[in-house]
Formats: sequence, C-alpha cells, structure tokens
Amino acid sequence: MPNAARMLAVATTAVLVLAIGSRASAWGEEGHQIVGAMASARLTPEARAAVVALLGNDDLATAGLWADQIRGDPSYDWAKPYHYVNLPRTAQSVDLDRDCPTGECVVAAIPRFLAVACDASKPEKERREALKFAVHFIGDLHQPLHAGYKDDLGGNRIQIVAFPGSSEEKKTNLHALWDSVLIKHRTNGDWRTLAAELARDAPKDLIVVWESNLESADWANESAAITREIYKELPADQRIDQPYYDANIATVMRRLTAGGVRLAAALNRTFAGSVPAHAPSTVPST
Ligand code: ADE
Ligand code: ZN
Ligand code: ZN
Repeated sequence: MPNAARMLAVATTAVLVLAIGSRASAWGEEGHQIVGAMASARLTPEARAAVVALLGNDDLATAGLWADQIRGDPSYDWAKPYHYVNLPRTAQSVDLDRDCPTGECVVAAIPRFLAVACDASKPEKERREALKFAVHFIGDLHQPLHAGYKDDLGGNRIQIVAFPGSSEEKKTNLHALWDSVLIKHRTNGDWRTLAAELARDAPKDLIVVWESNLESADWANESAAITREIYKELPADQRIDQPYYDANIATVMRRLTAGGVRLAAALNRTFAGSVPAHAPSTVPST
C-alpha cells in the first residue's frame, strides 16, 4: 500500500475505534430510541408543534441520539459531565450542593435545557440543541447507573461477562450491560416493536404517578435506589447469566417506560403556552 493510503487507513481505523469506544456511556441507541418514540406518541398538539418548529419533525427517537453523536467534537466537551450524576456510596439521595456543586450534572442540566428550549429570546440553533440535549438527558437519568458512583465511573470500570457460554457471550462492563446489553437481549434489534409494547402495556396508575413528578432530582433518587440494588445483587464472579436477566429485565422496561412518559410530560409542560420557533408575527404589518 502506498504511504498516503496506509496513513489514511490507519487514521480511519483510529477514528472508528474512537467513535465506537466513546459510545459506552448512555442508554445505548436502542434505549434512547425507545424513550423518544414513546414520548413522541404522547405529546400534546401544542408541544408537538413546538418540537416540529425546532427539529423539523416530531421524531424524538432520532433527536435523542444527537448528544452521543457529538461526543467526539471537542467544542462540546463541556457537556460530558451532563450525562450523569454521581453520589457517595453511603448516600440515600442526591444532594446538589454535594454532588453537583457547579451545576454540571444531569440533574441540573435537564431543567436548564428545557428552559432554553422554550425561550423565544434565544437563537433558534441554541433552542434546537437544548431540546436535543434535554431529550437525551431525561433518557439517561432513567438508566439507573447514570446516578452512580464516581470511583468506578458509574460501573464502566466493572468488567463482566454477559451470557457466558451462549452465542451472545460478551465481555463488557456493568454500565454497558444496563445501557444496552440487557435491552438488546430483549429486542433482538427490533426496538420499535418493544416501544409499541411498552406504550400499550404501561400501567395507568404508574403513568399518573410518573407524570405527577417532574423533578429531575427525584428521578435521580429513583435511579440511585436501583443502583444500590444493582451493586448488592452483582454476582461475585461477575458472570451475568439468564437468571440475572430474568430478575432484572422488568426493572429495565419500567425505567424505559417511565423515561418515555416523563419526557413527554416534561415537554408538554415546557411548551404549554410557549412561542414556537418562527411563529408567525402577531404584529400587524400595515
Ligand atoms: N462517568 C463517570 N460517572 C459516570 C456515570 N455515573 N455514568 C456514566 N458515565 C460516567
Ligand atoms: Zn448520555
Ligand atoms: Zn450510560
């Protein structure tokens, strides 16, 4: 291979490795697509109009992926800590003064981005990006390990083997297991069908409870409570088998459903009575 071609091949491989390696810390793509699709179906006409005015469509399943796609762009490095909040292992609940003193965590980021998304005085690009960040981070905060512990990076440093001895055997880590591996085992790649099933089966009484609580700190506390259980139940040999999946998949499904219901409720509240981007001027032109 000529030198230039070899260098291009090496550079391309490096970019691919970086791109794949950096995808390790959010609900995986399917998680965000499921949360977004469920939310899209639950928007009020007013919120849908505001979303369409900003994004050009009401496809929150796709919009939720953007915040991970820009992770390789250094101009967005400031957003990296916004994907999670970490608590002391002994804490029962999040304390923003202790866990998020500069406001650079997912709990504080969510209301800030929602406020920008509906602020007609802000430039449209800033509002559009704020909406896409809010969609993503509301999803993230419902992944239990996004309210995790700093010493192991929310489980990213805990190596595990998923489904050992099966055709799906995979060396991965605890965080990625909850981001994507458990979901993939459930969907087999067909996230749309799962989103439709979760929407159909969402218990009405839980929807009322979820919609009545739109405080991001409370969502973090719910995730942190599940995180404590995840660490208690972690097998000593770090082998994650079918019984672990059977014991935990309902929790994953409940968090995805709560994320979709809360995302819609948060957007419906945020855009109630707001001025959509490029709204027709109410000032008479004569
Ligand atoms: N990096 C450090 N802590 C993290 C967490 N809880 N979730 C995702 N990424 C992290
Ligand atoms: Zn994320
Ligand atoms: Zn993650």
